[in-house]
Amino acid sequence: MPARIDADRVQRLTMLMEESLKAKTARSGRFVEEAKEVLPAGVASSFQANRPHPIFITGGRGSRIWDLDGNEYSDFHNGFGVMVMGHAHPVIAAAIAEVAGRGTHFAAPNESTVRVARELVRRFRLPKVRFANSGTEATLDTVRLARAFSGKDGLVKIEGTYHGHHDAVMVSVRPSPEKMGPRARPASVPQSAGIPQAVLDMVVVVPFNDPDALDAALTEHDDVGTMIIEPIMLNCGVIPPRPGYLEAVREITRKHGVVLIFDEVKTGNVIAAGGVVERYGVVPDLVALGKATGGGTPIGAILGSEEIMGLIAERKVAQVGTFNGNPLTMAAAEACLTRVLDEAAYARLDVAGERILRNCQEVCDRFGLPAYTVGVAGKGCIMFADQPVVDYRSYTEHFRADLNYLAWLYHMNHGVYMTPGADEQWTLSIAHADEELDHYAAVFEDFAREVTAAG
Ligand SMILES: Cc1ncc(COP(=O)(O)O)c(C=O)c1O
Repeated sequence: MPARIDADRVQRLTMLMEESLKAKTARSGRFVEEAKEVLPAGVASSFQANRPHPIFITGGRGSRIWDLDGNEYSDFHNGFGVMVMGHAHPVIAAAIAEVAGRGTHFAAPNESTVRVARELVRRFRLPKVRFANSGTEATLDTVRLARAFSGKDGLVKIEGTYHGHHDAVMVSVRPSPEKMGPRARPASVPQSAGIPQAVLDMVVVVPFNDPDALDAALTEHDDVGTMIIEPIMLNCGVIPPRPGYLEAVREITRKHGVVLIFDEVKTGNVIAAGGVVERYGVVPDLVALGKATGGGTPIGAILGSEEIMGLIAERKVAQVGTFNGNPLTMAAAEACLTRVLDEAAYARLDVAGERILRNCQEVCDRFGLPAYTVGVAGKGCIMFADQPVVDYRSYTEHFRADLNYLAWLYHMNHGVYMTPGADEQWTLSIAHADEELDHYAAVFEDFAREVTAAG
């Protein structure tokens, strides 16, 4: 039986929970005001400026972190999905300390780069690798390569996906319903001021999980030579590809001579050693990596076929950067990928992911919440929607941001540091104990009981 959820009650509980979180994190609340004197919105990245106020973190170990007020949390945010290896992992910390003692940067080749590249080639079934310093740089490099290889400027992307903050992909990331246009022909909507119209004109937008729409768009736009896709949509909770969708995307892009990029910044080295490529068995022309790949240090990486990556060796495509392959990042990445995130680690993330999903789904069912659980390996979420969300438009239609925010406040007030913002999911780490996974579900149960109570 679906529960009746009273809107006034949701509002009341939200106010109470917000006050409680503000009181508990009062030092952060005060400090952010000082921070605003020198940092717009008081933070280094706008993704860190969240309601009720940004919470400053002082340190972490394993699955635990501490904030400026001394509160301890079990971390399910994990730095936007980076820290699957847990905080301050001793093997990675030792590798970083060793490099810190003998020089962190020379802008010259080092042996570790080759070992990390070999490990990524093994994982992702593509023969050549280059490094960068963020997921944004990785998708930027892959788009440039794809355009150079195809000889076409046009790019197709999925409505509602984020691929980093460079202009080419800051299009229809979170378009408002008034601006997004008809489903059959979505508009290309800028995600920020400052994006030139000429860039928007080069981007064709299609819905996720709809191979026919992609085929039709590529038939109509023969100036498109690049497709970038996040093969599991992870910036609208979790939206998995329907069975056969990724295979269809591979086939359709091949048919139209379009270079296919998988943005595996969030999934790569996280949902399996070889990310979506391994888990779903579909190999694109280029893969963009970031986040967990660097073992907790800033990294980007691109993988591609011999032919496409050959453009770099031939110096036709510029793929450059002062810090690319720097010793610090490479030492952390090598330790993480070759000594920490092994087969047993991925097996543990699978089991842990199933456990938290099962427990939270049981709560959804028992309380009749308009919500369901969805996830892949250590990434998952409670999707606050009474119908399955399959693309951005069904997300905007059915997603209950108010319930999502209230559940987030419950977690934050009960020792669970959950990713802020309506669009995110949890990321488990290998350091999470079963008791912590069960605590997450127990707090969710408290939320469910309160929100469905009468009066
Ligand atoms: C799918 C995806 N691609 C690219 C990026 C950009 O990565 P970065 O923030 O390291 O530039 C992100 C960041 O959240 C992402 O989620």
